Amino acid sequence: MNFHVLTLFPDMIRDGMNTSIIGRAMAGGFLDIEAVNIRDYAFNKHQKVDDYPYGGGAGMLMQAEPVYLAYESVEKKIGYQPRVIYLTPQGKVFNQEMAKDFAEEKDLVFLCGHYEGIDERVLEEIVTDYVSIGDYVLTGGELPAMVMMDSISRMVPGVLTNQESGETESFSGSLLEYPQYSRPEIWHEKKVPPVLLSGHHANVEAWRREQSIYRTARWRPDLLKKADLSNKEWNQIRQ
Ligand code: ADE
Repeated sequence: MNFHVLTLFPDMIRDGMNTSIIGRAMAGGFLDIEAVNIRDYAFNKHQKVDDYPYGGGAGMLMQAEPVYLAYESVEKKIGYQPRVIYLTPQGKVFNQEMAKDFAEEKDLVFLCGHYEGIDERVLEEIVTDYVSIGDYVLTGGELPAMVMMDSISRMVPGVLTNQESGETESFSGSLLEYPQYSRPEIWHEKKVPPVLLSGHHANVEAWRREQSIYRTARWRPDLLKKADLSNKEWNQIRQ
């Protein structure tokens, strides 16, 4: 999977993505992250990329041409028109299902805005997907792009080891993850739940599922609608 990030702050992307699992996946050749500096495509005297909005109003807008040329450099390099994600609070709110869908692509372009936004005309011309990472406003699209790249990368074959692989994790089946414990058996007078020490695999699995259901009911009841619960399980949480 190749990510191409169009940004005014390429170091933020390079520094932010080069550690831990994503860093390992890049070193192993499973992922490539290219940060394209939009300013390199501003061919005026001071490499200016922003200007005042027509009609007035607060702040500056990123101009269409440098954004377009930065995009075009990616299109020329890969030889086809990729999906282009514009990070904006006005977009569709990102979720696990969208991460899976984006992970099918060979290349993905992220367009990171700054200031008060980007000239609408270049958005119309290149953007295929408008995505928000939640209902709050950030100063730029770089952090949202990194959030998306992180979660999309986890779906790319080879990025996670078998052990890390996310089959039982939160959201894989619309239930939150069950609590986990490691050594020692007693810490601050708190004991590990005895069933986990029993060696009885079926009981452990049953306990974990029950915990997942309780947690979801308590913290994210909105997720239960999508969860695949038996009648007995529904009755248990209604009590
Ligand atoms: N840019 C600024 N805020 C954002 C958000 N919540 N999601 C995506 N892009 C953004």
